[in-house]
Amino acid sequence: MSRVLITSAIPYINGIKHLGNLVGSQLPADLYARYNRARGHEVMFICATDEHGTPAELAAKKAGKPVDEYCAEMHEIQAEIAKGFRLSFDHFGRSSSQRNHKLTQHFAGRLADAGLIEEVSEKQVYSNADGRFLPDRYIEGTCPNCGYDKARGDQCENCTKQLDPTDLIEPRSAISGSTDLEVRETKHLYLKQSALKDQLDDWIQSKTDWPVLTTSIAKKWLHDGDGLQDRGITRDLDWGVPVKKGDQDWPGMEGKVFYVWFDAPIEYIAGTAEWADANGKTDADWERWWRTDKGADDVRYVQFMGKDNVPFHTLSFPATIMGSGEPWKLVDYIKSFNYLNYDGGQFSTSQGRGVFMDQALSILPADYWRWWLLSHAPENSDAEFTWENFQSSVNTDLANVLGNFVSRVTKFCASKIGPHVPEGGTYGEAEQALIADLTARIRSYEAQMDAMEVRKAANELRAIWAVGNEYLQAAAPWSVFKTDPVQAGAIIRLMLNLIRVYAVISAPFIPDAAATMLAALKTNNNAWPDDVTAALDALKPGHGFEVPEVLFAKISDEEREEWQKKFAGVRT
Ligand code: 2FM
Ligand code: ZN
Repeated sequence: MSRVLITSAIPYINGIKHLGNLVGSQLPADLYARYNRARGHEVMFICATDEHGTPAELAAKKAGKPVDEYCAEMHEIQAEIAKGFRLSFDHFGRSSSQRNHKLTQHFAGRLADAGLIEEVSEKQVYSNADGRFLPDRYIEGTCPNCGYDKARGDQCENCTKQLDPTDLIEPRSAISGSTDLEVRETKHLYLKQSALKDQLDDWIQSKTDWPVLTTSIAKKWLHDGDGLQDRGITRDLDWGVPVKKGDQDWPGMEGKVFYVWFDAPIEYIAGTAEWADANGKTDADWERWWRTDKGADDVRYVQFMGKDNVPFHTLSFPATIMGSGEPWKLVDYIKSFNYLNYDGGQFSTSQGRGVFMDQALSILPADYWRWWLLSHAPENSDAEFTWENFQSSVNTDLANVLGNFVSRVTKFCASKIGPHVPEGGTYGEAEQALIADLTARIRSYEAQMDAMEVRKAANELRAIWAVGNEYLQAAAPWSVFKTDPVQAGAIIRLMLNLIRVYAVISAPFIPDAAATMLAALKTNNNAWPDDVTAALDALKPGHGFEVPEVLFAKISDEEREEWQKKFAGVRT
């Protein structure tokens, strides 16, 4: 048994996430966590809500709520939806927790002591009407290059020119529209990532087994242009982790908070500490996952995330860890994803385009979505959700192949032989060939799962389901039964056992259906089929079972059209 620490990128608090967000981090992380648990490893699976930054402040303002109240409510909502999708976090924390405040301030203090933090004076736009500094994207005005009148302080969307807020003609606040703006001097902290460049470079170079998507992004930031830049890690905002050096005040930094991307990944660690607090555990219990001086050197740490998060996880967060000079665990493997598109365009939170997690669960149970999303995970390129493809995948893989197999076997046995595992008969050549085929395929499925090749694993699982169906079709116990009922019983005994094996190996993808299958078989034997021959003999003659409810209903053309229409518009 080994120990596996798994984190999923932590979703922003400002609103319910869409299916593209889900498949880019939380869902594949859950697949991997469930699989590793099923293989007998000790797993710690952490996620949280990412609660700081301007977007959280603005979303709260829009909702007419104080930001702390808004975050508390949205956290509960996201936690509930995560449960609905059966995301099996050991803890779903909050980046606004006291644990994260303390740990973020601790890291900042260590980095300062190591000489890796620089104080820089900057000029920034202050809005008198809003009573705050405005980040670049919250200043609008006319583009000096093309005359577009809604250009943002960082870039003109129309001509793509990169801008400074001071370049804009007639600048105004994007929050209030006020033009009463002035440029003020303000001091910020910068993390001297450039000083850690060689250390980061060596570390990335050593990761020869990482996906190219991950390492190519890291290398681009390390080497393109002027190379790795120092990063501002503080902001002039009210909401966030107050800037402190450990537990000491930081002179000149009063009223400022850490930048959301500085404290968010630290929440992976803080979230594990929150897990300990919530479960009556000690500090040693969480530190054994994170401190290499306290047992974490035998932990394998895997992170899941969308490609836009890669620079922060390959460079900024490791810079924080390395720069601290303390023995914190660095990530061992980063699994990153491309984007999932929606019906000819992009999923978009700001524009409310696509299917959001709550909407998905309101029309179909989690397993339908889990199967489609994982079997179409955007691994090697962007992928696209279309309703036609969703319908055909559900109807073919889940209803026709897996669901139909379970239903045929159990119904036939219950009606012709009785609601128990039949006895007698022998396994001949066809059965031996099936067992050999299943053994080879299950080993290959394990290899894909171990390698986090999500699509390939789904393909292998689908093939395993199909093999059972094909055997059943060829063995035709319903015909054999007419002349040799005992031999028909032997075929069915093998198939009932195969249903148990299907339940166990499919559970990481479709946990609810797997539980229904085991419940129908009246067993809680969920042992992994390390030895497939033995696993196909686990349910002994006489063991009772029930015919389960339909595992997966087919999606009709009418439903598909209705949903297509329903989700074509924009969520408000
Ligand atoms: O892109 C996002 O959704 C960010 N909230 C991810 C943060 S991951 C981490 F660093 F915690
Ligand atoms: Zn322009």
